[in-house]
Amino acid sequence: MALTTPSITLHTFFFIFYSVTSFTITITLPTAQRFKEAPKFYNSPTCATITHHPNDTCSANRVHVAMTLDVTYLRGSMAAILSVLQHSSCPENIIFHFVSAASKPSSATVLNHTLDASFPYLKFQIYPFNDGAVAGLISTSIRSALDCPLNYARSYLANLLPLCVTKIVYLDSDLVLVDDIAKLAATPLGSDTVLAAPEYCTANFSAYFTPSFWSNPSLSATFAGRRPCYFNTGVMVIDLRLWRAGDYTMRIQEWMELQKRMRIYELGSLPPFLLVFAGRIVPVDHRWNQHGLGGDNFRGLCRDLHPGPVSLLHWSGKGKPWARLDANRPCLLDALWAPYDLLHTPFALEA
Ligand SMILES: *[C@@H]1O[C@H](CO)[C@@H](O)[C@H](O)[C@H]1NC(C)=O
Ligand SMILES: *[C@@H]1O[C@H](CO)[C@@H](O)[C@H](O)[C@H]1NC(C)=O
Ligand SMILES: *[C@@H]1O[C@H](CO)[C@@H](O)[C@H](O)[C@H]1NC(C)=O
Repeated sequence: MALTTPSITLHTFFFIFYSVTSFTITITLPTAQRFKEAPKFYNSPTCATITHHPNDTCSANRVHVAMTLDVTYLRGSMAAILSVLQHSSCPENIIFHFVSAASKPSSATVLNHTLDASFPYLKFQIYPFNDGAVAGLISTSIRSALDCPLNYARSYLANLLPLCVTKIVYLDSDLVLVDDIAKLAATPLGSDTVLAAPEYCTANFSAYFTPSFWSNPSLSATFAGRRPCYFNTGVMVIDLRLWRAGDYTMRIQEWMELQKRMRIYELGSLPPFLLVFAGRIVPVDHRWNQHGLGGDNFRGLCRDLHPGPVSLLHWSGKGKPWARLDANRPCLLDALWAPYDLLHTPFALEA
């Protein structure tokens, strides 16, 4: 924006030139990260053609992907985006919807420029999320990173995204796909199911809620008539039309308000999703969320893959592959994340 004008203003407004320069520096420094440009990815000949619509976001046959975006996890997000494009047979049909914290408008600018520079062909939009409003609803969890308001943005997608977007794949930033996202997006939800995700019915579901929750019949009755199973909210296919119609954002928020008054769970944004949806989702093959690769929430030990095929690797848990690779203490599976890393190493910058 302002960067094109300094050469004209230089002679007459020397001081303005300097203030423009220092402004640019103050908005780019917080990331201190430079990313490489990704190659362009093309549709294969068999891809559905995108019907013309005056507003590209609303044209048919799009695959809509939602992610949160912030400076801290940017390196993960960039790798996730690259992995989605690289394994898609119709990458040009994908639109990304990024949600960033409204409290940091300058970082939205940085994120916007970073995305533009690394993915010049990407169709995307950035939506400011009113993180200040949700902050008051968050009670502290066992892992402070889970308390970031942006983690809760996934509950507000239906409100943030345009009404013409009716189905979305939500993805966390600490994952990579190794399969075509269109297959996941095509998960049939039926006429009355809001959400699809891999379910884990062997996990101890009781452990996600406190004894005071289970001992209160008026609360635990919420699971009556359901067979609730754990699912991970880092990978979800959501029917936004049904979500809006049923005002699920409000239902999730009601549990968060209760949690502020009495402790009914220990984790962050996950338990309210379980309260509202567990036992009511369409199960997706486990290959689409090989989760837990970040290790446990306490020590961050290395974890292995679950048995079976892999379409998506998810470093949920405390450890992140980029941090472990940087520290020279990677887990074995972190080597599968590394090929998607777009960060310029300091050495590459010198070259
Ligand atoms: C991102 O940059 C584009 C131009 O490259 C601009 O049209 C858009 O408004 C920007 N969005 C944000 C959130 O800064
Ligand atoms: C497309 O429509 C959505 C809402 O329907 C709006 O937020 C967005 O700005 C529109 N984009 C363009 C390019 O008009
Ligand atoms: C499941 O978790 C609850 C609460 O943490 C615990 O009391 C119970 O023993 C666990 N059950 C099994 C089968 O591990």
